[in-house]
Amino acid sequence: MTSSRTGIVIVANRGPNDFVWQDGAWVTRTATGGLVSMLTPLARRSNVGWFCCVSEPPDATLARSGLFTTAADQTDPRLHVLPVPLPADTYHAYYGQISNEVLWMLQHRMIGAGGFEYLDSARHQAWGRYLEANARLAAAVVRSGRQPMAFLVQDYHLYPLPGLLRGAFPETPILHFTHIPFPDPPVLRLIPDSWRQTILRGMLGADVVGLQTRMDVRNFLSCCAEFLDVHIDADSGSVLMADGRRSFVRDYPASVEPRSLRRIMHTAEVSAAHARLAADRGEAMTIIRVDRLDPSKNQQVGFLAFSRLLEMRPDLCGRVRFLAFMVPSRTDLSVYRAYRDTVYRTIDDTNARFGEACGGPPIRVFYTNDREQALAAMERCRVLLVNSLQDGMNLVAKEWAVVAETPGVLIVSETAGVSADAAECALLISPLDVEGTARAMADALDMPPAEQRERHARFLGRVLRWSARDWINAQLADLGVENV
Ligand code: G6P
Repeated sequence: MTSSRTGIVIVANRGPNDFVWQDGAWVTRTATGGLVSMLTPLARRSNVGWFCCVSEPPDATLARSGLFTTAADQTDPRLHVLPVPLPADTYHAYYGQISNEVLWMLQHRMIGAGGFEYLDSARHQAWGRYLEANARLAAAVVRSGRQPMAFLVQDYHLYPLPGLLRGAFPETPILHFTHIPFPDPPVLRLIPDSWRQTILRGMLGADVVGLQTRMDVRNFLSCCAEFLDVHIDADSGSVLMADGRRSFVRDYPASVEPRSLRRIMHTAEVSAAHARLAADRGEAMTIIRVDRLDPSKNQQVGFLAFSRLLEMRPDLCGRVRFLAFMVPSRTDLSVYRAYRDTVYRTIDDTNARFGEACGGPPIRVFYTNDREQALAAMERCRVLLVNSLQDGMNLVAKEWAVVAETPGVLIVSETAGVSADAAECALLISPLDVEGTARAMADALDMPPAEQRERHARFLGRVLRWSARDWINAQLADLGVENV
């Protein structure tokens, strides 16, 4: 009965903290990524539970109680985290081999060498583990006895889950949100029909399918029309299924929480980072990037473009530095390691070629996960480069809008979700265009301060009008949930 339901259940691959099995014990670390930063404020409410997956090595099974103790006793005791242990090989297949090596690559259009190439028998077996992981999560949710007012299921790791939860909770509102771009039918056709059916039908187990942009909504509806026997109601943006159920498909652009970002900017950690960065900045103007080291983020083209900039504008040598804040990511996967090597080769080549003329290496790399340091760099940068090949939204661009102290210039790919909000504010580039990106860097460095301020103010206004709070509230409202 509706009245006995309380609170919200979030289900995501990652929790607000990661659990890592180290030296015979579980240790927790704050997780990164937009998903975690946007959902954590909601998760601090007392009646919100957060189920996440944990990779459990064989020697950890006996210490499972330690995992649950850790979950209940974290740095932020207001979070109710419910870790679901998956055997390490299942986790690797579901998270690494399917979610990241197939779905992530496909949805960011990285198809072919260096991305998603083919599905062999090992990959088919991994797909079985992907389904198993989703089934284990569904079972853990059922076993917990929670009867929430709504489920918020997150991302491409969990496409089958809304369908599984629908069976166990026929009356409970469910929303599935995909944080990354959703492909159009020609791209989704590159995976086997049975996989497509599982993905689309699983998502349609939700009452509301949430996506980042209007284009993602169009793509999802086109995929449903193309591959499923359903009726698309274009006026209401919904999918009507043969059994009479209806799922609404909506865009909820991800955003940032300006107030909490401003709070972070006043912390001792940010001041210490400014002091540390002073030597790397010197007197130079800085071009920066802040992203996970990931082929979809397209670091390689960014550094090639910077090299081209120094070649075509020798007057900038010594006057501009590129500070690259790259967060180690998914390093257990060979495609990520190979990409990292390629990117480092380009950095080394550029530094060797221009080091003398610039009076020192023009590119400085910070290969670490240090949010305060990255925010400090954003506060005083001259140019922020976001040249992703594809990006669901890109929250770094929105963070920059909030924290930038001396307005600089944003350069952003047209293929990042944030480019719609950044239109007429940022310099838009094509992510494959090295020459165009180099020219955009030159234009940004030459831009008069008044124009920088005007463009920045316009973008900031848009970010402030739609924050992470609006993102979550709109979803809850569409599920008919009030007063969490
Ligand atoms: C993206 C995805 C999230 C993911 C994050 C970090 O934002 O949409 O689901 O958590 O990247 O990636 P990771 O694989 O480290 O969780």
